[in-house]
Amino acid sequence: MSVDNTTTMIEAETAAALPALLARSYARYSNFTVAAAVIDDEGRVHLGVNVENAAYPSGTCAEQTAIGAMVTAGSRRIARVLIAAGSNAVVQPCGACRQRIAEFAADDCEIVSVQDGAPTTRKTFWSLLPDSFGPRDLD
Ligand code: THU
Repeated sequence: MSVDNTTTMIEAETAAALPALLARSYARYSNFTVAAAVIDDEGRVHLGVNVENAAYPSGTCAEQTAIGAMVTAGSRRIARVLIAAGSNAVVQPCGACRQRIAEFAADDCEIVSVQDGAPTTRKTFWSLLPDSFGPRDLD
């Protein structure tokens, strides 16, 4: 099977798993549950949910949790980010998460919305954060 087909299969399987993961979101204050998956450049999947906090700004987005899981697992390159909301709406990553994704995004990284457990809207990540500040600026 080609690399592309394998990636598509991983994406479909991961999207199908996200609705169940929403149940683990800790969205006590907003009741807006989000589940995210980061697929790294080796096709490994790293999951996350939003984790809110009584001190509101201390809460974390699902994408942030998933990126932390990816780095903890030893990966450094994001191929795709899948995002599912409990509302089933298409949700794009917030500004702060775009910056966090940018740190590790591959040149062809994609943001994939998940609705009803299936991939729907797809955007190239760098179209969402052009002309950004990143690791290269510090080299
Ligand atoms: N949230 C995410 O986890 N990811 C997004 O892409 C958008 C927003 C969370 C943060 C907060 O816990 C809740 O959704 C409402 O903003």
